[in-house]
Amino acid sequence: MEEAKFISMVGGDGEFSYQRMGVLQAHANRRLQPLMAEAVKHIRLPEQGPLHIADFGCSTGRNSISYMNFIVKCIPDRYVEAGENNGHVTCMPEMLVSFNDLPGNDFNTLIQLLESEAKNAKDLATSINGADVGRASSYFSAMVGGSFYNRLLPKETIHLAISIFCLHWMSQIPGTVTDKSSPLYNKGRSWILGGNPTIAREFAQQSMLDLDNFLDSRAAEMVPGGIVFASFVSRHDAANPENQVNAERQHRLSLGPDFENAWNDLIDDGVITTETRDTFNLRIYCRSKEEVEAAIIECGAFDIQYLQSPVDDNLCPEDELMHMLQFPKSFATFVSAWVRAIFGPTIEAYMGRHNTDEFFIRYQRHITARATSLLSDCKAQQEYKIFRLTLLHVVLKRKVFSTSSNQ
Ligand SMILES: C[S@@+](CC[C@H](N)C(=O)[O-])C[C@H]1O[C@@H](n2cnc3c(N)ncnc32)[C@H](O)[C@@H]1O
Repeated sequence: MEEAKFISMVGGDGEFSYQRMGVLQAHANRRLQPLMAEAVKHIRLPEQGPLHIADFGCSTGRNSISYMNFIVKCIPDRYVEAGENNGHVTCMPEMLVSFNDLPGNDFNTLIQLLESEAKNAKDLATSINGADVGRASSYFSAMVGGSFYNRLLPKETIHLAISIFCLHWMSQIPGTVTDKSSPLYNKGRSWILGGNPTIAREFAQQSMLDLDNFLDSRAAEMVPGGIVFASFVSRHDAANPENQVNAERQHRLSLGPDFENAWNDLIDDGVITTETRDTFNLRIYCRSKEEVEAAIIECGAFDIQYLQSPVDDNLCPEDELMHMLQFPKSFATFVSAWVRAIFGPTIEAYMGRHNTDEFFIRYQRHITARATSLLSDCKAQQEYKIFRLTLLHVVLKRKVFSTSSNQ
């Protein structure tokens, strides 16, 4: 299946939209602010022309605009500081933010959000100043459709590249795992979690290739001294790629047994064939810190500013989750809408709307049953951290004198 057919997240602002359901990722993104502010301190300021920030994997924009606004607010401090160091006033340049995602992404929703943000900002500034303040937004914006595993922007033009909750998405599923005649055919499951280690290694290889391409592309696009800030879903168990989350936590993952059992139900109920499930694979691979470090070293164009062990992050505050678990049906509706906002379009592109609806009906049933079974067991409820993800945060600086060839 080629890349453009993976149709990103659910667009618009309906019940399954990423606009609404990306609220959990937004929680985690807010916790990145101190690291983002620190990264901004290291951007090499442009001597002329605009300061260019690019977000790789912006989706429909609510979260992306929110962290862009935060970053843009951190920039003036850099100029004050630069002025103090030079002994003269340094002028703020104009700012350009490039929002990138796959061509199937709903950029219209993003553009409309940017418009209404800018209008609100302008109205507020006008009401404070008592006169029309002219330009509405604090930055210019551009939409860039295409895969971030390729070159997307001109050479040496980006000062800060961001990518949040994206780099665990692979560019494609390795052909060997969907080929029925191959010994690596991923039979009996829709992902690699807890599966055959050799098959998981096929995913690892594709994912390494993807990361190499991401780094080489950004190496060409970044100005020397430019900063890459990336945060994505990772894993602790470096040796065993099939343990995309630690073995003891696999049953608590939204993509664990409840997800696989929904596929099994579809087959048992005659909605799809076994082959339809077996040739579907989630296009996700959670890299270990070691895999990421090896790719950065191999690329050779970046110095590592920040790369620590992956951290576990509860996307939903614990007390909110405990409260939600008291109402299994509405909890399951929420979990199902969250998973559908992310994976629904890929599943729908693969087997159509009707079968996707049928899938999520069954998925919701399994989550309801699991939450119901936890009702009388407070300890088990506390351990059921379904929204806990392992995240890796990376900050890189484009080397000023690199021998790597710019593509
Ligand atoms: C979970 S969303 C993250 C959105 C936003 N950054 C956030 O923090 O909420 C992941 C986004 O990555 C995009 N994506 C995945 N693979 C991509 C690729 N190869 N090139 C560009 N975007 C990609 C998806 O389309 C999706 O919109």
